Amino acid sequence: MRIALSLLALMLFCASAHSQSQIQKDDAKWLLERITGVKWSADHPVLLQMISLIQTGNRRGAVELATQQSDFLNITVKNFGLKMSTREETIRLPLNDFTATIMGVVRDEIDARQLLYGNFLYVGDPSKIPSSTNTETNARLMATQNLNTYARHLLSSNNHYQALDNKKIDIGQVLIRRATQYLVVSESNGAYTIDRNPDPAGILTSRTFVEAHVEAGTNRRPVEYTFREFMCLPIEAWADTASSDVRIGRDIDRMPGGDHLKFQTSCKGCHTVMDGFRGAWAKWDFNNDIAIQSTIRKGNSDNNGVMQKLNRNGTVYAGGYVTIGDSWVNNASRGINQTLFGWRGLDGRTPASSGDGVNGFGRMVANSKRFSTCMGKRVFEQVCNKTLPTNETATFEGLGSKFEIANYNLKELFIQAALDPKCK
Ligand code: HEC
Repeated sequence: MRIALSLLALMLFCASAHSQSQIQKDDAKWLLERITGVKWSADHPVLLQMISLIQTGNRRGAVELATQQSDFLNITVKNFGLKMSTREETIRLPLNDFTATIMGVVRDEIDARQLLYGNFLYVGDPSKIPSSTNTETNARLMATQNLNTYARHLLSSNNHYQALDNKKIDIGQVLIRRATQYLVVSESNGAYTIDRNPDPAGILTSRTFVEAHVEAGTNRRPVEYTFREFMCLPIEAWADTASSDVRIGRDIDRMPGGDHLKFQTSCKGCHTVMDGFRGAWAKWDFNNDIAIQSTIRKGNSDNNGVMQKLNRNGTVYAGGYVTIGDSWVNNASRGINQTLFGWRGLDGRTPASSGDGVNGFGRMVANSKRFSTCMGKRVFEQVCNKTLPTNETATFEGLGSKFEIANYNLKELFIQAALDPKCK
């Protein structure tokens, strides 16, 4: 009887040890697939290494190992970036400058606030791109510092990034940081002149973002989409009819359909805040495939360098605001918007209610509490492949503060999201 009982105990012990080890194996596989975005076979050496890390209690070490796999950058981070890069918010796009720059910032663990105000972008390093096929050779040639090639394939088209987006190229490995953003000044018969971007703001002044939101329109969309992508706030969430209407343009009818009340209760809500900020882009346009900043290329701008589209349809309401420069005011700092955005000024300390250009705007957005929370939410959703109920903001705020404590290291945020108990 005693022997039978010990035997039973032994069997139970083995069974639980067995299931314990199965749980760890499943956990390792789950973490690896969440971080890399692809399936892995059960006997892959990386997976086996992760399992043994988990067995020694080092789950974080296992996640770190997963982030060292090329698919982490080339799939997970790439899709994270692509989704924010255009109006369609889709991942069914070729690589672009916006996304490559996010991938580079994650890989090099750079303070991610710089994504919204830094003077840099990532390109394929010609010395690292293999030259075995035509596409690869093309990608390589396009990234050379030859001015005309650079202007044609990086500043006037997406050719370089599209060519980089080739299964034979490990994009995450070949990207290199270029310290200065350039824009096309002029072009004639394939000969270009280029100059430094006078108002660099990371990916907000990437060709992709400017094309998506500054082309046509009245430069209100870049405000809408900056908040949508980097604050996770749709325009309805921050519309405020009680805010100042001083900055609302002359093209906005104050009597739509003869009804002033409609202006007061509807139009005004979005336009107080949006028109307050849109001055940031007053000197920007996008035309014939290139991003234009009036300081170095006049484009359709007036004597103040303000693109004419900002003041167009001036007779709709002649008493409206006339834009005379690229200053902006923050009309999202009262009422619920104050807590919603968590502004901390341009430098993270001094409150600011105004500023200049896209660079100043980007600084203010990047330093807000909301930016960190939003990155927490986006990274969580990308890694964990799920959304949380809208009242579960604590998870995202928690990830946001870990992100800040880690000096805005996005790679660390991906690790923290995978380790979050809510992820599984
Ligand atoms: C839900 C927010 C919202 C409300 C409410 C709203 N607008 Fe707008 N409005 C926008 C956005 C966003 C843009 C920029 C659209 C773009 O460029 O794609 C815009 C652009 C405009 C433009 C410029 C169009 C152009 O060619 O760029 C006019 C004119 C305008 N709105 C008038 C009005 C009027 C009049 C009302 C009230 C009847 C109103 N809006 C209500 C968000 C709003």
